Amino acid sequence: MSYILSKENFAKIGEFIYRKSGIYLEADKHYDKIAKYVDKRAKELEIDNFRKYFFALRFDDSDGIEFQELMNAVTVNETYFFREKDQFEVLANHILPNLHKKLPASKPIRILSAPCSTGEEPYSIILHIVEEGKVVEERDIEVVGIDIDSTVIEKANKASYTERSVHAIPPVTLSNWFTKKKFGYEIGEDLHGSVDFQVANVFDKQQMRKLGKFDVIFSRNMLIYFDDASRKEVAMTFYDMLNPGGYVLLGHAEYMSRIVSVFNAQKVNNCLIYQK
Ligand SMILES: C[S@@+](CC[C@H](N)C(=O)[O-])C[C@H]1O[C@@H](n2cnc3c(N)ncnc32)[C@H](O)[C@@H]1O
Repeated sequence: MSYILSKENFAKIGEFIYRKSGIYLEADKHYDKIAKYVDKRAKELEIDNFRKYFFALRFDDSDGIEFQELMNAVTVNETYFFREKDQFEVLANHILPNLHKKLPASKPIRILSAPCSTGEEPYSIILHIVEEGKVVEERDIEVVGIDIDSTVIEKANKASYTERSVHAIPPVTLSNWFTKKKFGYEIGEDLHGSVDFQVANVFDKQQMRKLGKFDVIFSRNMLIYFDDASRKEVAMTFYDMLNPGGYVLLGHAEYMSRIVSVFNAQKVNNCLIYQK
C-alpha cells in the first residue's frame, strides 16, 4: 500500500504534532496510522499530495479545523469510570476535607481533569464527592474537564456510556446515579451537566490561563504520550494553575519526581499526591 505521506515526510508531520500537542509519535509504531489519516483527509480536501496538505495544515488553517481534525485522529482516548479508583477515595476522604478546613468558607473548591477524554474521570470525581457527602453539603465544588480532542468532549457532553465504560462502578452507585438505556447507561438528570467540559490543549498557555486557578488537578494517563521536555513544561503549567497548597494527581505509571522538583510528594493510602 502506498500513501501520499512518505516515510521521510513522517518526520515533518511528527515534529509538527509534537511541537503543537506534546504527543511524541515514533515512525516504527505510528507511520501507518498517520499515513492513513493523511490519505483520508487529503481526499476529503481534494488534495493530491502531501506538500499541499501540509501547507493547508500549517498556513491555511485560520479557523483551526485542520489542526483539530488531526488531533482527533492521533489521540488515544482509553478511559473508564473509577479507573485507579483509590485516588478518588483519597480526594474525597483526605484532600477535600483538608482544603475545606483551610479555605475561606465563601471560596469554591475547583478541580480540573486534564485530560478528561469522554468524561468518565471528572464524573468519577463527582460521584465520589456526592457519595462522600460531607464537604459538598457545605461548599461549592466546581469540576472542569478539558481535552484536546473535540470528539471526546462532544461525547462527554452527551454523557452516554457503554457497559464496558461503567463496568467498575459498584452496582448501587450505578443504579443511584445513572439511567439504564437500551445500549448502556446515561448519567442521570441530577448529575448531567455538573462538569464544565471544554476543548483545550495543555500546551496552549492562553487557553490554560482562561480556565483560571484550581485546588486540585487530575492529570492521568496523558504524560505517558509526551517526552521529558513536554512533561516538564506541562508540570510547570499545572504548578502555575494551582492555588497555594493545591494538589496534583497523576496516573499510576507517571511520577512527578522524575519531571520537576517543585511539588511536595506525600503517600496517602498508597497513592502518591503532589502538593504545591
Ligand atoms: C488515555 S486518555 C486519559 C483519560 C483519563 N485521564 C484517564 O486516565 O482515564 C488521554 C487523553 O489525553 C488527551 N490529550 C493528549 N494530548 C493532549 C493535550 N496536549 N492537551 C489536552 N489533552 C490531551 C487525549 O485526547 C486523550 O483523550
